[in-house]
Amino acid sequence: MESQTKRRRIAVLNGPNLNLLGRREPGIYGSATLEDIEALVREHCAGHGAGAEFFQSNSEAELVEQIHARGDSIDGWVINAAALTHTSIAIRDALLASGRPFVEVHISNVLAREPFRHRSMLAGAAAGVISGFGAQSYMLGVRALLDLLDRGPA
Ligand code: DQA
Repeated sequence: MESQTKRRRIAVLNGPNLNLLGRREPGIYGSATLEDIEALVREHCAGHGAGAEFFQSNSEAELVEQIHARGDSIDGWVINAAALTHTSIAIRDALLASGRPFVEVHISNVLAREPFRHRSMLAGAAAGVISGFGAQSYMLGVRALLDLLDRGPA
C-alpha cells in the first residue's frame, strides 16, 4: 500500500561564470553569490518537503557528465546554463535523455539583451523558462518545478 508521497529530489545546475556571481557585472546579475542562492533554494525546498542538490561547472562536458550521473536519482532539473544556453545542443540532449522535466532559469531578462542571447537551445525542450527576476528566478524555477512534479503539466 502506498502510504506516503515520495520525497521530491531536484538538481539545480549552473553553467559557466556563475561561480563569479556577486562580483560579476553586478549591475546585470546583482549582488547575491551562488552560495547565497544555493542556501535560499535549499531552504525553500526543505520547506516544501523536497531535497535539492546543486552543481556548477565552467565546462560543457562536465555539465553533460553530471546530468548523466545524477539523472536516475532526481525527479527534475532547474538549470541556468548561462552562455551555454545559447549554444549547447549537447546539454539539451543530455537533459532530454534523462527523461526528467526541466525549468530553464536566467537571472537577467535575456530577451531584453543582445540578440545572441535571444536564442536558447534548451527552451524548446523545457517545461518553461523564467528570466529576469534576479536571484529570485531560481526560487520561481524551483516552485514551478515542484508544482509540476506534484500536479503534472498545466
Ligand atoms: C544568464 C544569461 C546568459 O546570457 C549569460 O551568458 C549568463 C547568465 C543569466 O542568468 O542571466 O552567463 O544565464
